[in-house]
Amino acid sequence: MIDWSDRHYRVFARQMTKNALLFTEMIVADAILRGNRDRLLGFDVEEHPVALQLGGNDPQKLAEAARIGEGFGYAEINLNVGCPSDRVQSGTFGACLMREPQLVADCVAAMKAAVSIPVTVKCRIGVDDQDPEVALRDLVSRIQAAGTDAVWVHARKAWLQGLSPKENRDIPPLDYGLVHRLKAENPHLFIGLNGGLHTLNQAVEEMQNLDGVMLGRAAYQDSGVLTGVDGLFPHPLSPEGHQSSETIVSPQDLPVDYWEAVRDAMMAYAARVVADGGRVAHVTRHMVGLFQGFPGVRRYRQILSTDATKPGAGPEVISAAFAAVLSARATTAAAAE
Ligand SMILES: Cc1cc2nc3c(=O)[nH]c(=O)nc-3n(C[C@H](O)[C@H](O)[C@H](O)COP(=O)(O)O)c2cc1C
Repeated sequence: MIDWSDRHYRVFARQMTKNALLFTEMIVADAILRGNRDRLLGFDVEEHPVALQLGGNDPQKLAEAARIGEGFGYAEINLNVGCPSDRVQSGTFGACLMREPQLVADCVAAMKAAVSIPVTVKCRIGVDDQDPEVALRDLVSRIQAAGTDAVWVHARKAWLQGLSPKENRDIPPLDYGLVHRLKAENPHLFIGLNGGLHTLNQAVEEMQNLDGVMLGRAAYQDSGVLTGVDGLFPHPLSPEGHQSSETIVSPQDLPVDYWEAVRDAMMAYAARVVADGGRVAHVTRHMVGLFQGFPGVRRYRQILSTDATKPGAGPEVISAAFAAVLSARATTAAAAE
């Protein structure tokens, strides 16, 4: 998610789920062709598996960017056909491409020819006055013919005029039913659902008959949700073996040593980032969404968002922040006995 997630967030997410596929934010193909590739594409092996999401509308440029991404070790290339921001509209890619389904198919075909890893598409159900029943099916049948390995559908329209990107993530109504019908009509195509899923219970509910569910904001703003993923999906990248929601353990019920392991891994990672010339706040800014509803969480957030930004701050701020939650938890547990 542009401006939110980055490689540091993905390392953090990976401490809580080994099996979820993580995605990069959208990276524009032109930037990869012309820019600093190590800065744009470099990632840590700990993050695996990661899909590289590309923005663009030129089949040859996308194919070249996909090839470069494969060389960097990404597990999958995903094309963005859903982002409605002005920047994207001026380049006529992202959600604008819902109006050009054959061009999207040409992009998919070119990328498929360039790489041997899966090539997938993330789209909306339509834009502006399009009829989603027609627009989504038209896009999907063309990209399926072009060889897409999966379609991830953010199950609402985008309004290209009049709504901000933020409003476009909330205001157009969700239509999960259309995605379910699309799957029923295309039983052999991997179809995943995105949009408005806040909890794993909700995700499992919607997962029935689909191949995947994608969490955006919840995975960032309430990142403890990720702790339940591997219990539900014991096999990485496979919808088979999907377990019942009874296997979800609430983050509040996880043992102290679970959280100590997350803390220690993040301290070790932050130490590496600092040793490479980065700042500990580059890492900790992604961690403030953890521990929603835990006693001590206000202090945790305060330490991460203030102490971690002070000059010379080191990985010990992560230890201090976790201590605020873990000691409050111990006090609450002792009081309950
Ligand atoms: C700050 C922000 C940046 C986003 N950037 C991207 C992006 O780069 N690529 C993308 O496919 N979706 C992006 N999205 C959209 C999310 O991936 C997701 O489709 C949307 O938020 C709906 O899902 P959710 O309700 O689970 O959050 C972004 C969302 C937010 C909040």
